[in-house]
Amino acid sequence: MKLTVVGGGSTYTPELVDGLARMRAALPVTELVLVDPDEDRLAPVGAMTRRMLARVGHPARVVTTGDTAAGVADADAVVLQLRVGGQAARRVDETLPLLCGCVGQETTGAGGLAKALRTVPVVLDLADTIARHAPDAWIVDFTNPVGIVTRALLDAGHRAVGLCNVAIHVQRRIAALLDVPPHRVELGHAGLNHLTWVRSAHVDGTDRLPELLDEHLPALAEISTLPGDLLHHLRVLPSSYLGYYYEHDRIVDRQRTARPRADHVAAVERELLELYADPANDTRPERLSERGGAFYSEAAVHLLAALLGAPGAVEVPAVQVANVRNNGTFPFLPDHAVVEVPARITSKGPLPEPVPPLEPLYAGLVAHVSAYEELALDAALRGGVERVRTALLAHPLVGQDDPADRLAADLVAANRAHLPWA
Ligand code: G6P
Ligand code: MN
Repeated sequence: MKLTVVGGGSTYTPELVDGLARMRAALPVTELVLVDPDEDRLAPVGAMTRRMLARVGHPARVVTTGDTAAGVADADAVVLQLRVGGQAARRVDETLPLLCGCVGQETTGAGGLAKALRTVPVVLDLADTIARHAPDAWIVDFTNPVGIVTRALLDAGHRAVGLCNVAIHVQRRIAALLDVPPHRVELGHAGLNHLTWVRSAHVDGTDRLPELLDEHLPALAEISTLPGDLLHHLRVLPSSYLGYYYEHDRIVDRQRTARPRADHVAAVERELLELYADPANDTRPERLSERGGAFYSEAAVHLLAALLGAPGAVEVPAVQVANVRNNGTFPFLPDHAVVEVPARITSKGPLPEPVPPLEPLYAGLVAHVSAYEELALDAALRGGVERVRTALLAHPLVGQDDPADRLAADLVAANRAHLPWA
């Protein structure tokens, strides 16, 4: 089995490799190709990957290359985990919206739109290369903003599934609170990427969320980074990304004086690359835990194993949270919208499971943000500052004319080097 990782020079790669090594029975990879244009990252990450696999006697051949076409040729699956413009562009996403009183975040609000504008054309170009050289390959997209990027890939006719680690992370944390193995916890996770609520947590047929809300409120508050009182009021567990909505102004105040996340991550990345370059290191470094991608490897290996039809591997859950076409899951959204819900993953693709109707409080926001995503994708595909302005007007965290107008001009100017149309 050939697996190709585009953005393979990412400091996250050893996280994925750790999962490949641990779950080798579920995903028997014989060739792992890391594709990256940045040789300064690819060399240490590739060397680290080889050492990690050698340590456990994993038989996969590791190839590093800057040539995408050669790297993806005849792959069974391609993982996309890239960041157009690196942490420098992310820093702009996180700081520029603050000047208009809007939250600065790389996937939510105006920053998320800027990221979509930079990323969609690059990903579609890569997907064309994949379609030419590996027409049967599954594309697993971890590249943010995952909802918009997955929608772009599916609209263009690619075999793609979007992946995020938020659901598996919450599942792991809840399992630990309940002291049960994670695979027995079935989350009622629903919404859009980075806009989800867990409305139930079934263990052996019993919903344990009410009990958790009563007995472990501080722990749930810590997982969601939201006040316990709000969780108690809602009786659900929102993802931490809902903080950018429910606590928007408070977060903006904090962000005005805080160090941008991009700067922290850039520092962690420099240290990780040094660790990877050191031949003495052959295990996933603890410093990687400072990144947000906890359990990304498990989620990715589960999804790949289920898509590639690993026959009956016990550790592969049949139902996994993924980003898929709505196709009636939320009756108030168009079928072609992309939603993040539990889906049965088959070798023919993901089939979303039925979701109990979303309460108006959540359905309203999902509809609003889904409409924004459609307009954001239109702006990314067709370009133009006016389309960017329209998408910002459609976003509930911008919405007003003055910031939408200013941010459209400023974000386009700041990202000009990454926008094919600007
Ligand atoms: C979580 C999100 C990812 C995001 C990451 C950011 O894992 O699900 O979509 O990329 O956090 O982590 P970072 O360490 O870069 O801030
Ligand atoms: Mn994510």
